[in-house]
Amino acid sequence: MKGHFVSFEGIDGSGKSTQARRLCDYIKKKLKRDCVMVREPGGTPEGEKIREILLDKNSKLTPESELFLFLASRSILTSRIVIPALKQGNFVIADRYSDSSLAYQGYGRGIDLEIVKNGNRIATYGIRPEIVFYIDIPVEVAMKRKNYSDRMEKEDFLKRVREGYLKLAEKYGYFKIDGTKSTEEIWKMVKAAVDDLIGGEEI
Ligand code: ADP
Ligand code: TYD
Repeated sequence: MKGHFVSFEGIDGSGKSTQARRLCDYIKKKLKRDCVMVREPGGTPEGEKIREILLDKNSKLTPESELFLFLASRSILTSRIVIPALKQGNFVIADRYSDSSLAYQGYGRGIDLEIVKNGNRIATYGIRPEIVFYIDIPVEVAMKRKNYSDRMEKEDFLKRVREGYLKLAEKYGYFKIDGTKSTEEIWKMVKAAVDDLIGGEEI
């Protein structure tokens, strides 16, 4: 059986984790295949430590040091979990992957996209998801779903990130989904795309 790799992208609160979990259940229960779910940053003991630094409000990071930490976590996750799982023919689902760095560190923090792309090339060993599900949602809607202490700053930042995602979606052919639709409607689209991806394979 062939391994598969898909990722979910979108701004915080767009509904990625909800769909990623549902897809993993579907793969396991309905398709009777192993499913490996990974989240970024994190997914390995070392990556979870890096995640703590990145999400700690007291960390005083530069945009560049932030990029390197995301890339460090990605490199460990890719070499230790993603590549071995794909070699074993598993289905790998990533709740964020390399495209998050393009949107957040590139468009959000203003780091040159070529630098982010080169970093990704090193950290992913050239691995790319076969489908990038991009869940698009207006920042105002996403912010209503989550509570932020630093609302104004977060809103401006996420607007840049969303604009970035929209440009990347055009350029790289993400599977774009309207995130204001119901969980059920979104799931139908995700399921159809995955059924298409594995169609014809013996399951
Ligand atoms: P993310 O992983 O992108 O941050 P989550 O999947 O954790 O997003 O969803 C954020 C919040 O929005 C959760 O409370 C979740 O139940 C809710 N949510 C997810 N998808 C939808 C949807 N399509 N419509 C309305 N609320 C949603
Ligand atoms: P998390 O709580 O996992 O995000 P979500 O709200 O989507 O569930 O936090 C991860 C944060 O890290 C999120 O704000 C996006 C950011 N991030 C980057 O800035 N660059 C990256 O490469 C990745 C993977 C995440």
